[in-house]
Amino acid sequence: MTQGPLTTEAGAPVADNQNSETAGVGGPVLVQDQLLLEKLAHFNRERIPERVVHARGAGAYGTFTVTGDVTPYTRAKFLSEVGKETEVFLRFSTVAGNLGAPDAVRDPRGFAVKFYTEEGNYDLVGNNTPVFFIRDAIKFPDFIHTQKRDPYTGSQEADNVFDFWGLSPESTHQVTWLFGDRGIPASYRHMDGFGSHTYQWNNEAGEVFWVKYHFKTDQGIKNLTAEEAEILAGKDPDSHQRDLREAIERGEYPSWTVYVQIMPAAEAATYRFNPFDLTKVWPHADYPLVEFGKLELNRNPENIFAEVEQSIFSPAHFVPGIGPSPDKMLQGRLFAYGDAHRYRVGINADHLPVNRPHATEARTNSRDGYLYDGRHKGAKNYEPNSFGGPFQTDRPLWQPVAVTGVTGESVTPVHAEDNDFVQAGNLYRLMSEDEKERLVNNLANAISGVTRDDIAERAINNFRQADGDFGKRLEAAVQALRG
Ligand code: HEM
Repeated sequence: MTQGPLTTEAGAPVADNQNSETAGVGGPVLVQDQLLLEKLAHFNRERIPERVVHARGAGAYGTFTVTGDVTPYTRAKFLSEVGKETEVFLRFSTVAGNLGAPDAVRDPRGFAVKFYTEEGNYDLVGNNTPVFFIRDAIKFPDFIHTQKRDPYTGSQEADNVFDFWGLSPESTHQVTWLFGDRGIPASYRHMDGFGSHTYQWNNEAGEVFWVKYHFKTDQGIKNLTAEEAEILAGKDPDSHQRDLREAIERGEYPSWTVYVQIMPAAEAATYRFNPFDLTKVWPHADYPLVEFGKLELNRNPENIFAEVEQSIFSPAHFVPGIGPSPDKMLQGRLFAYGDAHRYRVGINADHLPVNRPHATEARTNSRDGYLYDGRHKGAKNYEPNSFGGPFQTDRPLWQPVAVTGVTGESVTPVHAEDNDFVQAGNLYRLMSEDEKERLVNNLANAISGVTRDDIAERAINNFRQADGDFGKRLEAAVQALRG
């Protein structure tokens, strides 16, 4: 903003910003005091709807640098050369809390990256966990209702949380992860990120690979215990947001080494786990991590509302060489985010400075709508046209996928070693004795808040099926707490 007198929204100088205009000294206020009316009206409209999930978050800009050759697997231009740099914006978040909720809570963390590539923005909207609670998008609204405030009590209720998880055994793996040590990261800098879903990469020759992304923190993993988090959440509700901003201000730029697991398309059908089931990982022994990049955050946003609150990320924002997989959760997300953006930020959300392409331009024939900025000037608004307008390329971003069978509400196909508990059990058995102890205590404390025995028992039973020792210890700990 340039220096000069305070003005109205229309730019007229303001004489008095302390006293409103009245009919006589001490009399009622006049409608002709437009400054007063304008200020009150604008203030009333400062909020936009908060994100329905992941409302609480913080973001920063940075750079993605290619460190490994992945051109045999994808033709994405931003990945075409070792050493190539692409600007990014990353928004971290918690999931369940509202906009003003504390950062230091047990909850997955969002890890949403926007790559401003020369072929358009590529958004990878992931979490700090490699898996998720459910495997079909149709369950997402119900699931989130159990994480949010109960319609009657207005609070998060252990009954709802554990009722849903107990009745949705596919959540056992993610819940075991969440109540373990990594469930409360010490900061956004000290945690890993994952694309979580399986995505498609395709190369120049049109060959298809299924991939999973991993971002490993270079700061090292650091977590809070339940007790530490309880104190920090009260003392400094903005702990994660502050930590990120201050680290960047100090020039301590956080970074992540970026890896991908790569599965040739032909192996998907016979892989021991359904590779498109978001409740499962691909063990590294099956598909090792291939390093291909470094992501560094090095610039804070200047205006939180404009750049963080109004930032939008969509799993449907792909670029040539990258596409979706048939994962039913991902398919639902391809719709949900754009719809949320149109509602939350508006039909021109994609054209705000933080959201628009930075390394190319958007050339569309869509026009107008609320807050249209006239960026197309007088260009024709239809295609095909004879006036040099934008044209189609005839080359899809991703390769087609073969399908079989009939339409219907189908259950996610099960592969040879798939069940809801096997990977949760493996995760438990990987833990040290101390970790197991903390996991059992964390879960027992949470389950002991449940009011009905049948709900508690059903929840415990899922962990019993993952691992007998896990179930036995959890049952004893819950009993001790519930009496
Ligand atoms: C079918 C399942 C899901 C649905 C329907 C869904 C829907 C949504 C919606 C509507 C938003 C708010 C978007 C906005 O207002 O800008 C959101 C945010 C988010 N979701 Fe999901 N979600 C799903 C699953 C997931 C999964 C599996 C992940 C991670 C792997 C994830 C990560 C995120 C992140 C990181 C954000 C915040 C993005 C930001 O920082 O703006 N979601 N989700």
